[in-house]
Amino acid sequence: MPTYLEFTKTLAVSAGEKLLTERASAEFDRNYKQGDELVTSADLMLDAFICNAIKEAYPAHHILSEESSPTFSFENIAAEDYVWVIDPIDGTVNFAHGHKHVAISIGLIHQGKRIVGVVNAPFLNELYWAEKGKGAFLNNEAISVSREKNLKRALVATGFPYVKDQLDPILDRVKNILIHCQDIRRNGSAALDLCAVATGCVEAYFESVKPWDLAAGALIAEEAGARVGHYIQPTSSKKLPYELFSEHLLAANSDLYQPIRDLLQ
Ligand code: IPD
Ligand code: CA
Ligand code: CA
Repeated sequence: MPTYLEFTKTLAVSAGEKLLTERASAEFDRNYKQGDELVTSADLMLDAFICNAIKEAYPAHHILSEESSPTFSFENIAAEDYVWVIDPIDGTVNFAHGHKHVAISIGLIHQGKRIVGVVNAPFLNELYWAEKGKGAFLNNEAISVSREKNLKRALVATGFPYVKDQLDPILDRVKNILIHCQDIRRNGSAALDLCAVATGCVEAYFESVKPWDLAAGALIAEEAGARVGHYIQPTSSKKLPYELFSEHLLAANSDLYQPIRDLLQ
């Protein structure tokens, strides 16, 4: 029996190969969820592929997956149950537009904690992974966060929602970051933004996202030495464990976490 980490890496790599094939064939369909959010047939195909592999290997485990079980609730499961949290394509807009910043994100939660996270970016040849307490890796090399302490030198990643009816507070935060930090990046994949914090390519990342956007990347960032939390304290919910609270997410190196949090409040 492979370890959970080995299983997840193998699965993310196979899913990545399928994603490369999908783009090469360019035959995927495009649709819109709630009129705004792009979803392609490749998202649905990969969701089914990943979920089926997990169900076959671990029939007793639960799955929270963006395309097939986005409303999964932790309320009625036992604390010791395992829950897989999947974003089959993180960066769908990038995928559909031919950009390379696209990832498959698979995380495993046990007793409410993130224990395994794998983010595969096949167009970049980047495979990130982490296991709780064992460090974070990119293509077999250990990675760690940036040591920058000066806010003025901090490069900060963020993203924007599909629904654009409440942009004002978001743009206020962006403005504040632009005034006090070096610059902003919007790369189009939350999972890879968290991995960019982990490698030190950016000093921080903030955004309100969904549990599947962060389940794997937050563990990778944390294991690389980042502090991961929220710039507005979340209210508790029985539906999700704290480690999957995704509104107002902030990840940064530990020196810059609080100064950047102050800018975002
Ligand atoms: C999106 C990406 C994007 C972020 C959005 C996410 P999707 O995920 O991670 O960078 O800004 O908030 O929804 O839709 O491509 O899986
Ligand atoms: Ca996503
Ligand atoms: Ca997605």
